[in-house]
Amino acid sequence: MDGNGRWAKQRHLPRAVGHQRGVEAVRTLSRAARAMGLEALTLYAFSTENWRRPEDEVSALMGLLKRFIQSDLDEFIRDNVRLKIIGQWRALAPDIVELIEDALAKTAANTGPALVVALNYGSQDEIARAAAKAAAKGPITPASIEAELDTADLPPLDLLIRTSGEVRLSNFLLWQAAYAEMWFTDVLWPDFKPAHLEAALEQFGQRERRYGGR
Ligand code: FPP
Repeated sequence: MDGNGRWAKQRHLPRAVGHQRGVEAVRTLSRAARAMGLEALTLYAFSTENWRRPEDEVSALMGLLKRFIQSDLDEFIRDNVRLKIIGQWRALAPDIVELIEDALAKTAANTGPALVVALNYGSQDEIARAAAKAAAKGPITPASIEAELDTADLPPLDLLIRTSGEVRLSNFLLWQAAYAEMWFTDVLWPDFKPAHLEAALEQFGQRERRYGGR
């Protein structure tokens, strides 16, 4: 969800306002994704590297996350949304951990589309944790590692979208992206609209996926 900072800078607003608008885009896009019938939407909200940001920005992001869960939980319960958090979220502040545990418990029985939030997430960290768990159980194979990834109970990653003109993965779903289609756009995250998602899906539908075959 890149580009919140630049969106704010272009308007001479504080970065935190860009992140606020980013949350509004999250809400609009996750509703749109459900309406379009997507089984899962995974959002990269906070990486293991984002701790390097200034303290006030980190706490603004954590505050936004808390408010998002508090304000939207009833909607997830009502709309049968399966909330899932990937990454080392248990290492976050105790109040956030408690809030997440409560939200997960209240949506655990839901069977609808998954809204996945990557929090304190880094793909290399995820793969290392999965490999360690797999090794403790038996031989390490691609399948045994995959079964221990944070995303093990999610459908395979089909489409990966990155906004704001950055063309790299930045430690997001590296394993899962092995055969994912990629969509890079210059649109800044706060400006990313359901129409952009529709355009990405339309192009996705036209791609031929061979998974290494021919
Ligand atoms: C990247 O933009 C965005 C982030 C590091 C944070 C994304 C988090 C949110 C939108 C808030 C909480 C999330 C949820 C799911 C409610 P940037 O700051 O790197 O922007 P820039 O590249 O323009 O500087």
